[in-house]
Amino acid sequence: MKRDNEMSLKTKAQIQLNKVISDRANRLSPSGIRKFFDLLQKQKDIISLGVGEPDYSTPWHISEAAVKSLERGYTMYTSNSGILELRELTAKYLKEKYGIDYDPNGEILMTVGVSEALDLAMRAILNPGDEVIMPDPHYVAYDSCVTLAEGKPVLVPTYEKNSFEVEAKDIEVRVTSKTKAILIGYPANPTGAVMPRQKLLDIAAVAQRHNLIVISDEIYARLTYGTEHTCFASLPGIRENTILLGGFSKAYAMTGWRIGYAVAPREVIAAMTKIHQYTIMSAPTPAQVAAIEALKTGEPDVVEMVEDYDRRRKVIVKGLNDIGLPCFEPKGAFYAFPSITPTDMNSEEFSEKLLMEEKVAVVPGSAFGQCGEGYVRCCYATSLADIEEALNRMGRFVKKYRK
Ligand SMILES: Cc1ncc(COP(=O)(O)O)c(C=O)c1O
Repeated sequence: MKRDNEMSLKTKAQIQLNKVISDRANRLSPSGIRKFFDLLQKQKDIISLGVGEPDYSTPWHISEAAVKSLERGYTMYTSNSGILELRELTAKYLKEKYGIDYDPNGEILMTVGVSEALDLAMRAILNPGDEVIMPDPHYVAYDSCVTLAEGKPVLVPTYEKNSFEVEAKDIEVRVTSKTKAILIGYPANPTGAVMPRQKLLDIAAVAQRHNLIVISDEIYARLTYGTEHTCFASLPGIRENTILLGGFSKAYAMTGWRIGYAVAPREVIAAMTKIHQYTIMSAPTPAQVAAIEALKTGEPDVVEMVEDYDRRRKVIVKGLNDIGLPCFEPKGAFYAFPSITPTDMNSEEFSEKLLMEEKVAVVPGSAFGQCGEGYVRCCYATSLADIEEALNRMGRFVKKYRK
């Protein structure tokens, strides 16, 4: 009898589970990157130019600060906004670097990476059906965050011939009565593009003309080569329209710590903090302690890593061009985005075959939007020896499949 009951309970549970998933979750397509990395898990001896994260460990003095705080028993929640000292240091950093003034009490929120900050920003500003204009290709989370907040992503194609820079006029023709925001992320993932100041000024003018918020994801701000990053919020008169997102993952090799921040006018940060306090409470305490150390003493580490990425960037860009995959010169982040049109394959086929036949992992450009088709993303935050070997293997592969 007991067994019969258990059986019928089990059957019921299975039937219920089919109905449990929300339409919202069902509407999301799995990240094109993840889908591809599931394949990768099954392979051995791969050279990965896939995942977008530094091959460096977090500089030890940064990790050590967190370890010591744990030893001292500093393991409790922090203020919802984050440790005051960290907010003050972030404000100081933004002032010194870009000349912008934000009040650590009310205009800065420490988050679980830029990932959480993006989600909060969308949920704080969007009503159902509101439109957010963003470039194509773009970082995989951008359209999903908008969709999850019941907004509508509106894509602006960008092209290699324009260095993958999004044009203000192409944004402006897409503005409707439903447009709430423009979402940009430069230096860009996946292209490595950096926006010239004048083009950002043109976008700022569009935002002001149409009363739009600009969400500027500047997680790669420190990773530029031979050019200066312009912080969107520092442009004249645009502060009130801007939600600036930044973080520690890339510049300080701290991806696993999960720490970032949002900076915006008081009203916006208050709305984001309300959502954050109910869903997250506070960013991880040890990660906040590590971030304090990073801002206090991590500058030489950033400079050293950026110099190293630049060396690798030069090798990979030249190498890709030499093997017959034309590659636009990326001026930021740590991605090369070569065209694969000399072969007959689309980006997914190319990436899958390259992985199977030559054991090199790259990401299909199509994972980042339609305009990413015809390209693959190669992350060069890996050793020079691996980059050189990957180029050898890719060279062999391209020779075989050249049309
Ligand atoms: C453009 C961009 N924004 C945000 C993120 C997420 O960063 P975090 O680790 O701070 O959540 C990434 C990670 O790859 C990224 O490439």
